[in-house]
Amino acid sequence: MGNVITAILIGAGNRGMDAYGNYALKFPNKLRFVAVAEPIQFRREKFVRLHNIPLEQMYNSWEEVLGEEKFADVVFVCTQDQLHVEPSLKALDKGYNVLLEKPMAHTLEGCTKIVNKVEETGRILGIGHVLRYTNFFLTVKETIEKGLLGNIVNISHRENVSWYHMAHSFVRGNWRNVNLSSPMILAKCCHDLDLLFWMVGDKPKKISSFGSLKHFTPSNAPKNSPKYCVEGCPIEQTCLYYAPRIYIDIIPIIQILEKTDQFGLKVLASLRKNHVRLLTTLSKVIKLLERLRYWKGWPVEPLYSGRPEEVIENYSDETKMEILKTSPYGRCVYKCDNNVVDHQVVNIEFENSVTANLTMHGFSEREGRTLRIDGTKATLIGKFFDSGQKITLFDHFSGTKEVIFSEKLTIEGSAHGGGDVALIDAFLDTLHKSKTKPLTNAFETLESHLMAFAANESRLQAKVVDMENFRRIEEN
Ligand SMILES: NC(=O)c1ccc[n+]([C@@H]2O[C@H](COP(=O)([O-])OP(=O)(O)OC[C@H]3O[C@@H](n4cnc5c(N)ncnc54)[C@H](O)[C@@H]3O)[C@@H](O)[C@H]2O)c1
Repeated sequence: MGNVITAILIGAGNRGMDAYGNYALKFPNKLRFVAVAEPIQFRREKFVRLHNIPLEQMYNSWEEVLGEEKFADVVFVCTQDQLHVEPSLKALDKGYNVLLEKPMAHTLEGCTKIVNKVEETGRILGIGHVLRYTNFFLTVKETIEKGLLGNIVNISHRENVSWYHMAHSFVRGNWRNVNLSSPMILAKCCHDLDLLFWMVGDKPKKISSFGSLKHFTPSNAPKNSPKYCVEGCPIEQTCLYYAPRIYIDIIPIIQILEKTDQFGLKVLASLRKNHVRLLTTLSKVIKLLERLRYWKGWPVEPLYSGRPEEVIENYSDETKMEILKTSPYGRCVYKCDNNVVDHQVVNIEFENSVTANLTMHGFSEREGRTLRIDGTKATLIGKFFDSGQKITLFDHFSGTKEVIFSEKLTIEGSAHGGGDVALIDAFLDTLHKSKTKPLTNAFETLESHLMAFAANESRLQAKVVDMENFRRIEEN
């Protein structure tokens, strides 16, 4: 294997194009995409253009590219949750190493098939559990390993999904319906369950869970509200979820900028929110302001998926308004085909008798995780938000507190707190050194995914799941 790892991208959507594609553009001496498989023409051609891929190596689907003889080192599988198993199995069979997006699969059966195939082929398979690679969680892990907390007794971890992320992804968007993607506790929280398993350093013994879809249901729809927000909704002036507020006025982005502790970003937020006409004028001469005025990034980008070519590069307010008349993202949040939970709690007892609980909900004022670890020597409190990160350690004996980690938001955004880049670096390093198990490998991932499937079972059947039994049943 040469110094530059050659790769095939399967699925040039948000993760494939932005996380992995951007990495290769930034570090061309480390990773080079030599082929892409993507059914959406615009995405496929854009990826080919950006990465200088020969046209004969542009494919419409994973079946086509994996039907060829092996011609690269690694395959990045970045399709939606329910399309992870088949391309991964085929790629491993063909002799490729694989970087597979999380979740490994949307069913336990699928996860098990992948793990078995990894064992059978001896190939390397990494999973996109990016949070393990962030400086924030690496600091937490190092603090535990240094013994600064003493023995861990309890962990309280919260996955605070912001109100806008909930509406965008889990009510209107790709992860809204368990039959089309995966249970929310897997789709959103497999990262968190993986972190708990990693931090505790032992297997879970018992799991219980409660949760439901409480708010985003037809019974909460405003009287006389239409199916699409822009069809004359009687409460459009006051509805938190009115689609043009989110996708044209970009209130989510403004709120992220407003919540940082950086003056410059707050000024930009105010300019976008309160002086949009001035911003429009200024954006004609200042590129950075043009980006803020005609926002293309998350959550706007998915609006354009599958749209005709003439609107693809047009981010004007009028075009977005037109798109919202028919886009899934323009729907009333109370009248979608969503069925995933909007809040869930999970209680876990581990083999080493550490207890932990995970709370996930979709009503946070900002996006991010909060973490509290209580140990026999100290307490660690962590805040991992889009708008900034901080870890504080409170030592019991001295009674002192120390900020052991802090990071501010940058205008570039943090790409999962730096985890995206670090994950790819670590994966490529594993390939070069031919180590068989990256930090987030198939075997460890299976254990943390098991926790998600067990939590789902507990919630649905109102029972405590004994993990030893659960593992045994699933093995048979
Ligand atoms: N690691 C993380 O933190 C993280 C964050 C977000 C999403 N994800 C996961 O990444 C995966 C992709 O998410 P996304 O937001 O990029 O989705 P996306 O919908 O933007 O991209 C998926 C792409 O796969 C393409 N595709 C569909 N069928 C295909 C086929 N037969 N062959 C090749 N490509 C095909 C689609 O056209 C689409 O462009 C999901 O499983 C998601 O859960 C992980």
